[in-house]
Amino acid sequence: MRSLSIAPEAFRRLADEIADLTANYLATLDSRSTFPPTSGARTEQLFHHPLNEQGLGADALKALHDVVENSRVQNGRFFGYVLGSGEPVAALADLLASVLNQNVTAWRSGPAAVAIEHTVVNWLASAIGCAGFHGHLTGGGSSANLMALAMAREARTPVNESGMKDASQGVVYASDEAHMSIAKSVALLGIGRRNLQLIPTDSNFRLIPSQLEKAIRRDQAAGKIPLAVVANAGTVNTGAIDPLPEIAAIARANELWLHVDGAYGALASTAAPAIFAGLDLSDSLSLDPHKWLYQPLDCGCLLYRDPTHARKAFAHTGEYARALSNDPVEGFAFFEESMELSRRFRALRLWLSLRYHGLQAFRASIQEDLNLAQRLASAIAQHPRLELLAPVGLSAVCFRYLADTSKTDEQLNLQNAEILKRVLQRGRVYLSNASLRGKFCLRACIVNHRTTEADVDSVIAEVLEAAGGL
Ligand SMILES: Cc1ncc(COP(=O)(O)O)c(C=O)c1O
Repeated sequence: MRSLSIAPEAFRRLADEIADLTANYLATLDSRSTFPPTSGARTEQLFHHPLNEQGLGADALKALHDVVENSRVQNGRFFGYVLGSGEPVAALADLLASVLNQNVTAWRSGPAAVAIEHTVVNWLASAIGCAGFHGHLTGGGSSANLMALAMAREARTPVNESGMKDASQGVVYASDEAHMSIAKSVALLGIGRRNLQLIPTDSNFRLIPSQLEKAIRRDQAAGKIPLAVVANAGTVNTGAIDPLPEIAAIARANELWLHVDGAYGALASTAAPAIFAGLDLSDSLSLDPHKWLYQPLDCGCLLYRDPTHARKAFAHTGEYARALSNDPVEGFAFFEESMELSRRFRALRLWLSLRYHGLQAFRASIQEDLNLAQRLASAIAQHPRLELLAPVGLSAVCFRYLADTSKTDEQLNLQNAEILKRVLQRGRVYLSNASLRGKFCLRACIVNHRTTEADVDSVIAEVLEAAGGL
């Protein structure tokens, strides 16, 4: 017996214990505080211990209770960030994926895993009206955005007199509401932060197409090379959807790559396709099943129209990894279209979760989130002490408490930051924050398959309660 061997019966007992722990956790989820009663000192004391030389055996599992009791809770009253709610059937698939330990590099390293990943990517593309797009699963929207812009750089940077591609004169355009991962990508790709042009947005936080055209003309006149435009299908702050058809027309006329950052919103087009018209005009598109398809982290997805651009950017195959088959299925390698080589079997959770519930159940849940956001927005709009700070097109609701109308924005910002702190301390609901045109917002984002009307109604009650003691 090797030192790390474990008998199948012992494994089964451990798995049963973890199944009990997780099922009990799910049974008590609703009654839990959204933030655990813990502190930095407490988590240091519990988890900052030396590594044991001798194995603890099944006793090692006892500490998992502490992990559960010191974790943030995603019940229906969790409205922070843009964070999906961890559909549990998908979580079960993760156990099998880890035991099978497929390295989803290429068909020969994981035959079923590669076929299943192709299948779920096709399902996602079709579900959002982009049938025929290629793609792969990623760690999240940030890495999908990075890879998309790497493709754009490769596809649109001209070769100079020395036969080199130099992207340092290239320009990428995005709205001033673009996610921070766009600036990060532009910096990492050597295009340079100064070559990211942020285009102003209108009163609905949507990129203004005429301003984009103006910026392109100005840069062309200055000898710069417009490379790509990033349009939002759901901005992180307010869920604004940029005017995709107009932006696509400008991109086409100026030979720019069009990337749509749909990490937050694009999957909602399964329920509300009309508001996402133009998604299929993109060259590449990010979407995040770990946000609005309720999947456990991590599970992002990058789609692209033409895989030759992905191959140009990412196929740098070493001899040791060369495919040995000419069969189009058996010779396929994800690493030739992605920056990742070793990749976990992310597709299994999505495949099982979608097959278990069916697409209709996901569509209905997304529609319910959209409805709940409208319910919250109209209650805020009607309340004399609350102010809605942005239109609610998707499911992000930005608002603030208005103690009285004579207060300045600075005073209101301080007050609302304090309210947020108190709301989080109370632990009944979890909100996050945003800043819109200098105004501090309380922000509730509903991408949660557990949220009910009563949960949404508790947002206002909690904010008023927290404001009461100011
Ligand atoms: C619009 C948008 N883009 C990109 C991201 C980054 O996604 P991830 O956290 O999966 O890297 C987010 C995250 O909230 C987002 O809202």
